[in-house]
Amino acid sequence: MKKTGFFIIVMALVAVCAFASGSKEKTEYIFGTDATWPPFEYIDEQGNLTGFDVELVELIGEKVGKNFVVKNIPWDTIFAGLLNGQYDAVASGVTITEDRMKTIDFSTVYAKVGQVVIVPTDSAITGIDDLAGKKVGVQIGTTGDLALDEYGTDTKRYDDIGLAIEDMLNGNLEAAVCDSTIAADFVLKNDKYSSLLKIAGEPFTAEEYAIGVKKGNTELLELINEGIEKAKADGSFDELKAKWGII
Ligand code: ARG
Repeated sequence: MKKTGFFIIVMALVAVCAFASGSKEKTEYIFGTDATWPPFEYIDEQGNLTGFDVELVELIGEKVGKNFVVKNIPWDTIFAGLLNGQYDAVASGVTITEDRMKTIDFSTVYAKVGQVVIVPTDSAITGIDDLAGKKVGVQIGTTGDLALDEYGTDTKRYDDIGLAIEDMLNGNLEAAVCDSTIAADFVLKNDKYSSLLKIAGEPFTAEEYAIGVKKGNTELLELINEGIEKAKADGSFDELKAKWGII
């Protein structure tokens, strides 16, 4: 009798635990993005967080039946915040690099870019090989910042690329370097800048964008990849790319 009673209690506990863990299944995931990188992520005139990455994250969340929420996070702490668990993923035009792969697992590649040189319209600079010894602005810690190490530039690091561009227009820099799609957006689509800036030369790196999760978070990585795959299969991924003019 005693034994049966104990058995019943154990079984009841097992049932309670199973129920509790089942009902706690994670349905919401937070994605960090630094909204200074149009057209991938920026704050629009109404003050809303928008851009290709923002809509991609929401789209793939829908595809896998989860609530994927995007939060604005400054670039210089974006990876630290991911690693100490402040959010679940980073979708911020992040280039896959060997160094980042030590602590971050990356999703399927969703876009390709290269670093390009932006200069004032009247500049004589024709591309990366003219930048040795020149004051060049970048967003701190980006692949553009790192790529300049090989070119002997006097690199000036800014919290965001918009500040570098402003400083160049104020005459304090000779060039700025950033991802090609962002440069194209600043130079061609921004009414404030389109007559003042140009892109000099061709992209001088080849980079791939992916969404990052903390190394070992295979559960979320699989959800993200499944969502990307579904969005590719039903055409919504290509539609989104066309909407934001991304190749
Ligand atoms: N692709 C570059 C990198 O990974 C720059 C990304 C910057 N992204 C941003 N949202 N500010 O370093």
